[in-house]
Amino acid sequence: MARKKIALIGSGQIGGTLAHLAALKEMGDVVLFDIAEGLPQGKALDLAQSAPVEGYNASLKGANDYADIAGADVVIVTAGVPRKPGMSRDDLLGINLKVMKSVGEGIGKYAPDAFVICITNPLDAMVWALQKFSGLPTNMVCGMAGVLDSSRFRTFLAEEFNVSVQDVTAFVLGGHGDTMVPLTRYSAVAGIPVPDLIKMGWSTQEKIDQIVQRTRDGGAEIVGLLKTGSAFYAPATSAIEMAESYLKDKRRLLPVAAYLSGEYGLDGMYVGVPVLIGENGVEKVVEIELQGEEKSGFDHSVDAVKGLMEACINIDPSLG
Ligand code: APR
Repeated sequence: MARKKIALIGSGQIGGTLAHLAALKEMGDVVLFDIAEGLPQGKALDLAQSAPVEGYNASLKGANDYADIAGADVVIVTAGVPRKPGMSRDDLLGINLKVMKSVGEGIGKYAPDAFVICITNPLDAMVWALQKFSGLPTNMVCGMAGVLDSSRFRTFLAEEFNVSVQDVTAFVLGGHGDTMVPLTRYSAVAGIPVPDLIKMGWSTQEKIDQIVQRTRDGGAEIVGLLKTGSAFYAPATSAIEMAESYLKDKRRLLPVAAYLSGEYGLDGMYVGVPVLIGENGVEKVVEIELQGEEKSGFDHSVDAVKGLMEACINIDPSLG
């Protein structure tokens, strides 16, 4: 059986980490694409030279021509400009929208059967534009944000409870931005929901509220520390988890920026919701019942995403 093909559009910090992880996990052969000449070729060669030591079997190739992604099974998009300190995800909109146009057209032409995961920010608007520019079916185009945001939430909760991260599950919904909605009620340690753990004296509401806020600011915290770029290890790992669920038909239930057609009362937009990823891409959107502040937080987040979509349409009316 031929190996699967993973195409990475954007070979920067996240792209390089994605290539390393995909190769180490032997997910398939990897094509690194970038507009910068030499960068994807250099990273591909460097990574290929780590294969004899690690003992993995995967070919790695760098490319500046979309023809090289032909027939890809999975495409992960990180092309664009990352956030600089003081820059909001929304500031990125104008620059990265143009990038999504060229990337979408390239994918539509050369990899129309691929499962596409977008990471470029501002995520919910970029994945929406990417799907339109590519013309791929909506179930085959999704965005990575919730897995990362939930992972950040899980990290902080595990630290607070002094338990293994393995036993902490958490859910973060809504848009990937300052308005994201970490759902405490659906977050648990070995099945014990966080509100119960508060009652049991494991933490206080105040501390959990601080953790929720730190999760919302998780990206900015790292931007502030790195100073020259944004997070890349955890974003890459998160997208790989989604890609594996598709390639191996794992049927994982993950928080993903997915296209909604009626679910949650929304139509024709992308926002972070729980979905099932299997061999047919996003196979199902899971509708959980949101209560009180969860609902108002989600609505607020949806409004923020709609605002970004409108800004995109103003820049490129073909998206309307
Ligand atoms: N086509 C292909 N690649 C492009 C294009 C384009 N039109 N425009 C820019 N690139 C490439 C850049 O040359 C660079 O190598 O995208 C790469 C982005 O890499 P980094 O700058 O290192 O950014 P990274 O940290 O990987 O983040 C990428 O993910 O989390 C988001 O906000 C982040 O939008 C950013 C994206």
